[in-house]
Amino acid sequence: MNRKLLVAGNWKMHGSLTFVREMMADFNTMLPVGINYDVAVFPVYIHLYEVINKKPEQVMCGAQNLSEYDDGAVTGEVSGGMLSDLGCDMVLVGHSERRIKNNEDNTEVAKKFAQALKYGLQPILCVGESAVQRQSEQTFTAVWAQIQAVIDEVGIEKLGRGIIAYEPVWAIGTGETATSEQAQEVHQFIRSQLALNDDTIARRIRILYGGSCKGSNAYELFSMPDVDGGLIGGASLTAQDFMAICQQADILSQGV
Ligand code: 13P
Repeated sequence: MNRKLLVAGNWKMHGSLTFVREMMADFNTMLPVGINYDVAVFPVYIHLYEVINKKPEQVMCGAQNLSEYDDGAVTGEVSGGMLSDLGCDMVLVGHSERRIKNNEDNTEVAKKFAQALKYGLQPILCVGESAVQRQSEQTFTAVWAQIQAVIDEVGIEKLGRGIIAYEPVWAIGTGETATSEQAQEVHQFIRSQLALNDDTIARRIRILYGGSCKGSNAYELFSMPDVDGGLIGGASLTAQDFMAICQQADILSQGV
């Protein structure tokens, strides 16, 4: 099954209105129309509106988080309905930085995944093991527990409407990228486990790799059979670095 590559830039807590305007101007000049792969960016909440209004049509926009609630007395949170109303296409759920710094557990992440779907947003479920878990050979167990929690909450069919991003915590922002073989091993594991639930969904769902992905290693990573693109942090913060990754996706998408 041919899965369209996705290059997604997670800007994390970076940028300013000027940054957003310059990035969108660069995207408009640098990104050709009619590309055979998908591109998305994830700015902070307060920059979403600017991105949505200035982005090229072929670029999707998403938030980095959403509330597990519909509305109400939850100061400082933003709901899926509000993101959808603004024009967002997607939303990240369970990024490791939120799991670690904001104590988001698997159950909360699963509820957020459900909220995203409820409001027509495509969730990108971020999963990944810590360095300690990898060293103690807990990678598969840790990653699968994160996915199983979502299946328990919404079922396999709804999981299949989202995207999974495998982001080993030890590779995020460290410059230490998983080798393409390490990435493929986990992606293949995820797909084979999903196939035990539903073979069609397992073959259809996109699994992105994230963690120090850049122009120089994107081709090797994205050419792995179970790697369907990347969730990019640091290298999404300049148009040139991000486009260097997009170019690799473009090469791999020729003739697809
Ligand atoms: P880096 O690309 O900076 O390692 O970040 C990856 C990431 O966390 C994307 O969500």
